[in-house]
Amino acid sequence: MPEKKSSPATANSQRGRIAELRRRSEEAEAGGGPERREREHKAGKLTARERIDLLLDEGSFEELDKFVRHHCTDFGMESQRPAGDGFVTGFGRIDGRLVYVFAQDFTVFGGSLSESNAQKICKIMDLAMRNGAPVIGLNDSGGARIQEGVMSLAGYAEIFLRNTLASGVIPQISAIMGPCAGGAVYSPAITDFIFMTRETSYMFVTGPDVIKTVTHEEVTKQELGGAMTHNEKSGVAHFISRDDADGCAMVRELLGFLPSNNLEDPPRRHTNDPVTRRDASLNLLVPADPLKPYDIKDAIHSVVDDGYFFEVHEHFAKNLVVGFARMDGRSVGIVANQPAFLAGVLDINASVKGARFVRFCDAFNIPLITFEDVPGFLPGTQQEFGGIIRHGAKLLYAFAEATVPKITVITRKAYGGAYCVMASKHIRTDANFAWPMAEIAVMGPEGAVNIVYKRELDKAPEAEREKLRQEKITEFRERFANPFIAAERGYIDAVIEPAETRTRIITALRSLENKRDTNPKKKHGNIPL
Ligand code: HXC
Repeated sequence: MPEKKSSPATANSQRGRIAELRRRSEEAEAGGGPERREREHKAGKLTARERIDLLLDEGSFEELDKFVRHHCTDFGMESQRPAGDGFVTGFGRIDGRLVYVFAQDFTVFGGSLSESNAQKICKIMDLAMRNGAPVIGLNDSGGARIQEGVMSLAGYAEIFLRNTLASGVIPQISAIMGPCAGGAVYSPAITDFIFMTRETSYMFVTGPDVIKTVTHEEVTKQELGGAMTHNEKSGVAHFISRDDADGCAMVRELLGFLPSNNLEDPPRRHTNDPVTRRDASLNLLVPADPLKPYDIKDAIHSVVDDGYFFEVHEHFAKNLVVGFARMDGRSVGIVANQPAFLAGVLDINASVKGARFVRFCDAFNIPLITFEDVPGFLPGTQQEFGGIIRHGAKLLYAFAEATVPKITVITRKAYGGAYCVMASKHIRTDANFAWPMAEIAVMGPEGAVNIVYKRELDKAPEAEREKLRQEKITEFRERFANPFIAAERGYIDAVIEPAETRTRIITALRSLENKRDTNPKKKHGNIPL
């Protein structure tokens, strides 16, 4: 075919259009301009585009809606209508897998949410749902765009709705890399995991000024809603990163453990760690004295592939350890009582932390491995008034409704209600193991003797009372504080040598690869919130 020649006028107009495209593109990429960008860098923050570059596989980002502008004509806004309107949205790849992403650009109207950029976020969330891929939000925003009033609030509500509908269907991850205040916090709060950067992020519903007016408390932004506050005190955030780059690397790593949606299995990763690897040191991990602590993370590191454990909520409710690892190359969710902190007792925070993690794993086909050494629920008025009944029930409910493969290893204490709650056989756990030093009982020997033999002890002459108590305790411990009564009933499938725990778990996991279990058909359950 002869080459088609365009007339000089057409060529000019084509060149003009391409120049126009480039000009608009540069305008969008410039954000709020070099001065504001510089201010962000000086504050230790990156810009929205720099963060996306670090988050995604190199060159994989496909931007959408780069030329969207806001429609606000109040307060002089008609003369400031930057392309992109301060949000960068689109899709790309992490380790070759599709993800959708939005990043708020603080250099444009403080990253505030307008009607237009809310629509940009909703668009990528709808695409993520249709295509079964995670959504990652990089948050850095002054909240609702004040000049747009209710249109901005409507935008938030549209996002909240999508966060809710996407929950349990695709993983949703929020990284807070600057301010996140007011009602805006509720979008990250509905997502599955929140990352916060150590020095440069904060989240609160009402800021220090409002608090001072209402309650007369004086508090700084960081004390009130900084990264450590939410990682350690409130439990709102699950991860803390050194800076934006570290945060992006952590998000990438987390995604490696997760499937892209609830209909897929998590990606499997090759490992050279032998299935049959024994660890003799585990035989000596649990101290002979039942009151002495040990670190359950030693057991976790010992049994998982390559000793690698990606802990979630590391700084919150340390009496329960949760996180991801791989066994036989498969992602697993680990839930473990931590005897080295508050003796591994279950309290309100630990129950809520565990319940949310268990439900996440169940929603996304990640098998649950539970390590149990729990003396019971924490006594006290603070816990009872705070609703330990309601909160403890969350963990019980979460384990009971979970249909993913469930494996439990009782390493030492499994007392009382906590025995039932921590993935016991009775709530559909598939494989229940116990180490020989396990104590499975209604309560510890001391407490049990004080109740069961109260009359006898009261009647005994004072000089002999303590001796009698100790005898009864020894008798009780020998009779009940072992795993064999439960094993005789089949509540424990096998009492295993600690050294072989890795092999036994992986063998069980392999047998459960095709597990299918369902819950009764219903609209949804009524978890005790
Ligand atoms: C429009 C905003 C804005 C907002 C900041 N800016 N927040 N523009 N709407 N919400 C603009 C500023 O005018 C400024 O523009 C630029 O962003 C940077 O802001 P600075 O104040 O200079 O930055 P900094 O000192 O770092 O302070 C950041 C800040 C502060 C703490 C976030 O800007 C602030 O308090 N903003 C308002 C926060 C707020 O109350 N938002 C509403 C929350 S209620 P120039 O042109 O000077 O660069 C809410 C409801 C959601 O969000 C409801 C959902 C249900």
